[in-house]
Amino acid sequence: MIGATTVRAESLTRKFGDFVAVDGISFEIHAGEIWGFLGPNGAGKSTTIRMLCGVLQPSAGRAEVLGYDVARDPEAVKTRSGYMSQGSTLWSDLTVEEHMRLYAGLFGMYGAHQRDAVEEWMERIGLAQRRTQLAGSLPGGYRKRLALACTLLHRPQMVFLDEPTSGVDPLSRREFWDLIVHLSEDGTTVMVTTHYLDEAEHCDRLAFIYGGRIIALGAPAELKRAPSAGVTVEILSRENLRILDAVEDAPFVRSASMYGSSLHVTVERSDDVARLQNTIDARGLGVQRLAPITPSLEDVFAGIVKAGRPA
Ligand SMILES: Nc1ncnc2c1ncn2[C@@H]1O[C@H](COP(=O)(O)OP(=O)(O)OP(=O)(O)O)[C@@H](O)[C@H]1O
Ligand SMILES: [Mg+2]
Repeated sequence: MIGATTVRAESLTRKFGDFVAVDGISFEIHAGEIWGFLGPNGAGKSTTIRMLCGVLQPSAGRAEVLGYDVARDPEAVKTRSGYMSQGSTLWSDLTVEEHMRLYAGLFGMYGAHQRDAVEEWMERIGLAQRRTQLAGSLPGGYRKRLALACTLLHRPQMVFLDEPTSGVDPLSRREFWDLIVHLSEDGTTVMVTTHYLDEAEHCDRLAFIYGGRIIALGAPAELKRAPSAGVTVEILSRENLRILDAVEDAPFVRSASMYGSSLHVTVERSDDVARLQNTIDARGLGVQRLAPITPSLEDVFAGIVKAGRPA
């Protein structure tokens, strides 16, 4: 269910001294959307989220969340949204249940209302068996579950999840994503960062930030079809590594890397596919298959970054 605008950022900027961490980014997130925010370490994802949550003042530009200006009315934003920060915000000497009661209280939930919400989320997030365990002794994935439960307890309309699944095992990651999809189906808007591109496929739209600027934005399928994504070719050969070595520095090659047992090479245009074939033939290397494919998100982003051009 995708509706009205929940987040609107206009030329949002954050500097630390002379360093520009977030460089005039503009975007909108619609109600009920799962909006993925991707980019390499230090690209500006957490800084952007911290501004949207009302915890960090923008240096320039503006943003609204749920109709409230994040700089002028940060408290209104904080009470209506949920923020799961990238670092741990847990106290090692409080139990799972104590954390949840504490957070519920901070959001003004008391008595039966608090008890029901804590029980519901403990069950939904798989923490009921560990309710009396101290947070400090929880395995990493369970610490993330607890942080997520504390973020969702007050049923915020907008949630910001900053790397909710880092350090979480693959099965639990799938459970996290089932939950995120359910939240979105119930109308909650989700902005989520991740370094796992398989997770990015679950997002309605993705933005890719690089050096503080958004360089690609769209639905996963749109990003893969965009002309700026180039043309990705799959190569199957027994000599993949020698082929990689032969083509990776060619001027028409944007990116080349092993992808499982095949090689993915992204070139600028479809004419370059023949050039690629010629380069391989000239080295006397044999291939079983060389054909254009739908790129993975990894191919798309590697290609866009190398080309240094906005999508
Ligand atoms: N308080 C601060 N003071 C100075 N520089 C900062 C501060 N916070 C962030 N930065 C810098 O701003 C840049 C963006 O950082 P940010 O944490 O937003 O990146 P990120 O995209 O979340 O990266 P990661 O994927 O590693 O979490 C980095 O170069 C970081 O060192
Ligand atoms: Mg970060």
